Amino acid sequence: IKKIGVMTSGGDAPGMNAAIRSVVRTCAYHNIECVGIYRGYEGIMEGDFKPMDARSVKGIINKGGTVLKSARSKAFRTPEGRKFAHDQLIKANVDALVVIGGDGTFNGGLVFNKEYDFPIIGIPCTIDNDIFGTTHTIGFDTALNTVVDCIDKIRDTASSHNRLFFVEVMGRDVGHIALNAGVGAGAEEILIPEENLGLERLLESLHRSKRSGKSSSIVVVAEGDKIGKNVFELKDYVEANMDEYDVRVSVLGHMQRGGAPSCFDRVLASRMGVKAVETLLEGKTNYMVGLLNEKMELTHLREAVKGKSKIDRELLRVSEIMTT
Ligand code: F6P
Repeated sequence: IKKIGVMTSGGDAPGMNAAIRSVVRTCAYHNIECVGIYRGYEGIMEGDFKPMDARSVKGIINKGGTVLKSARSKAFRTPEGRKFAHDQLIKANVDALVVIGGDGTFNGGLVFNKEYDFPIIGIPCTIDNDIFGTTHTIGFDTALNTVVDCIDKIRDTASSHNRLFFVEVMGRDVGHIALNAGVGAGAEEILIPEENLGLERLLESLHRSKRSGKSSSIVVVAEGDKIGKNVFELKDYVEANMDEYDVRVSVLGHMQRGGAPSCFDRVLASRMGVKAVETLLEGKTNYMVGLLNEKMELTHLREAVKGKSKIDRELLRVSEIMTT
């Protein structure tokens, strides 16, 4: 392998830049050429490549977003799109890819590898932490700190006005952000897609906490939770069935995806970038690098995309005890 292409794809996450930096510098360390590919698979098809050396990634470890930009490509899902992408890579003498993103990114990489036998390694980077084969995806820790910070602030208003707040956090299909940030911020109730509490039990729990002397409450709701159709309907339901609280909703939205990455995410991204490039240099392909038992490990991309990471049952129990 003489030239590696690196790209970011799917939703951005804090630490993406630290991962790009690590891939580029590891290539430089091993005297391999590196090209940055703009806007993920879209950029491959357009041949939007830029040679990168160790100095081109200076000053980005602390920046949110991605300097290579990101996109979700429809055209790459077609055989014609992938043929076009392959032609561009061959033309630019790129002979391996490091793809930074989530399961959509890895699925694209798998199909591409199958059709063209093109070496690919994935780096898991999404705030949702919903990838099998790593305890942490890049961006998850930063997003948790952002959410906890926001909930701490919302709590000031909740307790000043004796209010009940529903705080919606990201997590399309999973409750990792809600569960972890909910425990970290001392939420009274946490609603996640993996556990259907049911509206009745939610009401019971809110009544119980009111009786126990609480004058305000924070309920953290994962956006993928199925208890109500959406968080505003939850508010209406609780207001209609409980007159003890003044209820408000706060949807945190995309602020969870931005901001400077935490030290944890910067270190994780640096480790994963080194492991990704060195795995390619060992002649391996179709793996995702991950953090398991404190070590950098490899999981086949097929496994990584097949199973969503499971919610931590022990943490779920902790949250039940903490919310009594
Ligand atoms: O990055 C993952 C995620 O944050 C999900 O939790 C959320 O549903 C989705 O991205 C929203 O992404 P977009 O605004 O790019 O469609």
